[in-house]
Amino acid sequence: HFHAIILAGGSGTRLWPLSTPSFPKQFLPLPTGNSMIQETLLRVAPLAPPEQTWVVTGNHMAGLVEEHLPTVPADHVLKEPMGRGSAAAIAWAAATIAQQDPDAILGIFSADHVISNVSVFRQTLHLACDLAQEGRMVTIGIKPTRPETGFGYIRFSDTVCEGHGHQACSAEKFVEKPNRETAETYLRDGHYVWNAGIFIWKASTFLAEMQEHLPDSLAKITAITEADVKEQATQLTEIWPTLENITVDYGVLEKTRNLVVIPADLGWGDVGNWDQYGALFPADEQGVHAVGDHTGFDSQNVVIFNNTERRIYTIGLEDVIVVEMDDLTVICHKNQVQRVRELAEHHRKTG
Ligand code: GDD
Ligand code: MG
Repeated sequence: HFHAIILAGGSGTRLWPLSTPSFPKQFLPLPTGNSMIQETLLRVAPLAPPEQTWVVTGNHMAGLVEEHLPTVPADHVLKEPMGRGSAAAIAWAAATIAQQDPDAILGIFSADHVISNVSVFRQTLHLACDLAQEGRMVTIGIKPTRPETGFGYIRFSDTVCEGHGHQACSAEKFVEKPNRETAETYLRDGHYVWNAGIFIWKASTFLAEMQEHLPDSLAKITAITEADVKEQATQLTEIWPTLENITVDYGVLEKTRNLVVIPADLGWGDVGNWDQYGALFPADEQGVHAVGDHTGFDSQNVVIFNNTERRIYTIGLEDVIVVEMDDLTVICHKNQVQRVRELAEHHRKTG
């Protein structure tokens, strides 16, 4: 009874102007030609057939989801009137699936991750399912390489179970998005891994956790899922905006005592900015990652993304990102990539 749930509610403003609120980053193409959300589905497809695959997304993106993932049944695309955080998104899917399949095991995946070691990914999921079956809340842990403040950190202790070439450890502590100083101490400690944002648990286990930690949200969500088909749309528009806006990390994972983590080398990445996105595309011998028409000399560590028919010529560039679209061009130093969202915001306000 393994059900895959793909969360696709993000907006991805740091990959503007390619990613916009109406065309968020999970729909961006990867070097394979598939979009990130399509790759996400392909990774889990061997584990969950279409009738056990679900997507939770915003109403305004549902059309794109259906276009990118035509195999997912239309009634398995759960459309939120507005984003209320991942706790609500997961709980809605869990409550819906539990009605049809009370023993369901859920695998929850983000639509905007890349994973290069797919066989390791599948092995960890097999071990995760064994543990989920026993009622554990399972996460996957990534060995941290920098004091990143945008991720959750999990402190692992004793091994609780081994299998499929991996070990699962009990999670002593989960801290979502610590500050820089704290992240540095975690890195030195050596017993922390990043939360990969991949979760495996029984629908019933998660609903019990919701009951304990976010009971009001759960009551509202069950009112929606238990309404009969005709009333559901009205219930959704009325109730959804009143839900507390909170992520599963803050709302449940920081509080549960039932967490385990499987540290695994997935070749995992959260594609969050132009530097990370550009790095997915092959580089020439000078380290220029170019997509589209480009000719350049003596440049280093550059990302060029050309979405037009024009040719871009560059010379002597270093640590720069160039994004060329029909109606606008963005040129950004690599040490400012996180600030692209400020440009997006400015453009939105001033057109
Ligand atoms: N449907 C829906 N609705 N999806 C949502 C919502 C929502 O309201 N909010 C977030 N998501 C989806 C995003 O589209 C993404 O696929 C996933 O849930 C994670 O959300 P992000 O907004 O990207 O979270 P984050 O990157 O800041 O942090 C999470 O992921 C990190 C790893 O990438 C946390 O789980 C961290 O602990 C983790 O390290
Ligand atoms: Mg993310």
